[in-house]
Amino acid sequence: MLPLCELDTLETGRARRVLIGSVTVLLVRTGPDTVHAYLNRCPHLGIPLGWQDSQLMSPDGVYLQCSTHGAQFVTTTGECISGPCLGDQLWSISCTIVDRHVLIEEHELPTPKRT
Ligand code: FES
Repeated sequence: MLPLCELDTLETGRARRVLIGSVTVLLVRTGPDTVHAYLNRCPHLGIPLGWQDSQLMSPDGVYLQCSTHGAQFVTTTGECISGPCLGDQLWSISCTIVDRHVLIEEHELPTPKRT
């Protein structure tokens, strides 16, 4: 498990980007002791949902949202419920809380492409 941050640095209804090597993970706190992690990659075009933390959520703070075409995703499942990739899923990464630290399963991240 890879530690990313302390739980108390995450606000409910907001998401944060965390850079791990060449990939960016989104962390979204969905409850007092619950955090979900996703790859910052929209299933529509394979580009980041947002390039700034302030672009990652719908204005009401309920859904993750793509800043390019407005697709919205359920924070607890990553399912797209509106937009051009309706029914698709964000790339989910297992996330757990240990001693109020947020950890993810590093092996679930995409492997870098070799050329
Ligand atoms: S790139 Fe995300 S909705 Fe089009």
